[in-house]
Amino acid sequence: DPEAYAHLEAGDGSSVPRMYVEMLEQPAAVERALRGRLDDRFGTAHLGGLNLDARELRAIRRVKMLGCGSAYYVGQMGAALVEELARVPADAEPASEFRYRNPIIEPDTLYVAVSQSGETIDTLLAVEEIRRKGGRVIGLVNVVGSAIARACDGGIYLHAGPEVAVASTKALTNMYVAFALLALQLGRVRDLSIADGKRLVNALAALPAKIDEVLKLEDRIAEIAGDLAGAESMFFVGRVRGYPVAREGAQKLKEISYRHAEAYQTSELKHGPLALISPDVPSIAIVPDDELTERNVAALHEIAARGGPLVVVTHEGVDLGELDVRRIDVPRLERELDPILLTVPLQLLAFHAAQSLGLDIDKPRNLAKSVTVE
Ligand code: AGP
Repeated sequence: DPEAYAHLEAGDGSSVPRMYVEMLEQPAAVERALRGRLDDRFGTAHLGGLNLDARELRAIRRVKMLGCGSAYYVGQMGAALVEELARVPADAEPASEFRYRNPIIEPDTLYVAVSQSGETIDTLLAVEEIRRKGGRVIGLVNVVGSAIARACDGGIYLHAGPEVAVASTKALTNMYVAFALLALQLGRVRDLSIADGKRLVNALAALPAKIDEVLKLEDRIAEIAGDLAGAESMFFVGRVRGYPVAREGAQKLKEISYRHAEAYQTSELKHGPLALISPDVPSIAIVPDDELTERNVAALHEIAARGGPLVVVTHEGVDLGELDVRRIDVPRLERELDPILLTVPLQLLAFHAAQSLGLDIDKPRNLAKSVTVE
């Protein structure tokens, strides 16, 4: 029972931060998000709450994700999934920006509002703007019956369970899972093959166990985090699938450890930020085993040549040559699910960096769990 962790006492008698409990709950939370939604026979997902039949799903020409903060970053991950699996153009935008630029609302675009709390004012007002102009919007929301859930035409509940820590972990993971289910259902009414559908159904079913494997890397990650916490500033770099992962990693570290962290596309380093690389500025690089590995490794050489310390989140067997790096190997699954397995170690990294600095992890300065005023 994951709730049991909530009563744990740390060695010094203080209670264990909620963020820690919520990170450990992730395998169980993902299982809840998947329950009754996977269809092995047809290699698809069933999302009854979308309120869209197959014909309506086929008529969608674009998908737009809207959310704030981490919900926006996971929206970027979701857009990549939808483009890859359903071959429908998709992108993500901060809800807070979207509604201030008099957006063009198209009838064949599916708008997706992403929110743990379901109360974030910018996301809620974006939903109302879309509906006022006749657009169709679904919600990926954790809190049942929340304002955003009620304002949408339909949606996918995240079933992550109550999330209390300001730094979002399990809700974010379940947002990714919900996007994977949406992309699967959308893909399977279009051109995604039954074989690929089944491959993803099996991968999703295996995801909780794989997240568990990542959580077991905690000791190694804690050691690295303790060293990183001494740096005033660091880079998180990744490209394509890895870039939103880098953004989310930097966000988590900033929120709770108050270290400056900047996310960059690895491919963009040479166009400016390389000037900042030095022995005092570590880089955390996201290097999955995919079609971009070689290019990513070449960029690591550029960082190393300038004396920049490197932490590489990668897969076992990825050849990093002679580079002097500290590596965190996450388990392999299917490539489409790499981003979430690469994100979990970054949660642990932020958590342990903050802990080594003795900070109040659940109540970071200047931040609230949900932002309900403009
Ligand atoms: C996540 O760690 C942050 N606390 C923050 O960016 C959060 O994701 C954002 O404020 C959106 O919140 P919501 O999901 O409740 O809408």
